[in-house]
Amino acid sequence: MSKDMLLWDETLFKNGEVLELDYLPEYFAHRDSQIKSLKFSLKPALRGMRPVNCLVKGSPGTGKTTAVLKVFKEMKEHTDNVVFVKVNCQMDSTRFAVVSRIYEQLVNVKPPSSGVAFRKLFEKVVKHLVDSNKILVVALDDINYLFHEGHADEVMYSLLRAHELYPGARISLIAIISDIGVPYSFDPRVGSVFLPEEIDFSRYDFGEIRDIISNRIQHAFYQNVVPDDVCDRIAEYVDMTGDLRVGIDLLKRSALNAERRASRTVSMDDVEKAYESSRLIYLCRNIRSLTEHERTLIGLIAKGTDQQAGELYKSFHDITGLGYTRFYELIEKMSASQLLDTDFSGKGMRGRTRIIKPRYEPKDILKCLE
Ligand SMILES: Nc1ncnc2c1ncn2[C@@H]1O[C@H](COP(=O)(O)OP(=O)(O)OP(=O)(O)O)[C@@H](O)[C@H]1O
Ligand SMILES: [Mg+2]
Repeated sequence: MSKDMLLWDETLFKNGEVLELDYLPEYFAHRDSQIKSLKFSLKPALRGMRPVNCLVKGSPGTGKTTAVLKVFKEMKEHTDNVVFVKVNCQMDSTRFAVVSRIYEQLVNVKPPSSGVAFRKLFEKVVKHLVDSNKILVVALDDINYLFHEGHADEVMYSLLRAHELYPGARISLIAIISDIGVPYSFDPRVGSVFLPEEIDFSRYDFGEIRDIISNRIQHAFYQNVVPDDVCDRIAEYVDMTGDLRVGIDLLKRSALNAERRASRTVSMDDVEKAYESSRLIYLCRNIRSLTEHERTLIGLIAKGTDQQAGELYKSFHDITGLGYTRFYELIEKMSASQLLDTDFSGKGMRGRTRIIKPRYEPKDILKCLE
């Protein structure tokens, strides 16, 4: 066996966990001004005052969630009087789910899943805060998934006006928007109390991407596993998509490809093969967060071609038994999260018909549904 070949029990990964997507990186550079704004807004909490609300926005994979978690982690070391809660609105996409998650993290007990009204549970949360004299900072992560059906406004309104109903309640909000090109605005009633510090996360430039990726390589792999030109190639792919997640996923997958060949180094070809899957990471994340019915629907849409809403509804109803109103809501929700396009066409027997098209390659959607 040549010395370039891996023995069966050898690996290229020195510390593979740094390539997991939920890993909070030690090295978090090029976000100094955003971190500073976040800290500045939250700082009043350390003196018992309600922090300034924040609106954090930027395109996918630009470090928004990571920045907020880093700041939470650091502040937790300085105070016991503030409770920091992050809610993933892609998973918890109703007002009730959001407040359940807050309750769970605040009280360390899962709330009853049924039989309790939103208002009751919300009251418990606020009462707990007031009784324990604590300040609550809630990060509503990926809040854009709450925009359709007005859930975002409801949740924010309740949290922001809590102190009017329950004097002494101190709650502040960080709304994190993953900007996927959907226009949004908050209800004026929310806007007038939210008044956030706006913090923009611009896309990283090539040099920044390369720096972040090469640092991750140092932590993840043994020496000389990833040659410089391969690192550059990965940085180019990140630059194309703007999403650092693609780069981290590419590192993991291309190194696994190299291991499969029993090679001690990652080659360009390992990267090219890995990119086929990594480029879908955002789409797959989006699709994974859908409910069973939504997945059924997007599957039907991906399998057909430019379907008319009526025909699509028939197939959907045959499988799920759901009615037209629900069907229509799901279509609206998925077009708000940029999975679908809906267009009107001039044809159709009774005038204009709605044509429903996937925004991604149907084969990519089907791949993510596997
Ligand atoms: N400056 C940075 N240094 C090191 N790693 C980073 C940096 N920015 C982002 N990352 C990494 O990139 C990945 C994506 O970052 P993050 O999840 O914070 O993005 P996001 O802006 O919240 O994306 P989305 O809008 O899709 O939720 C994470 O794994 C994170 O560790
Ligand atoms: Mg995020």
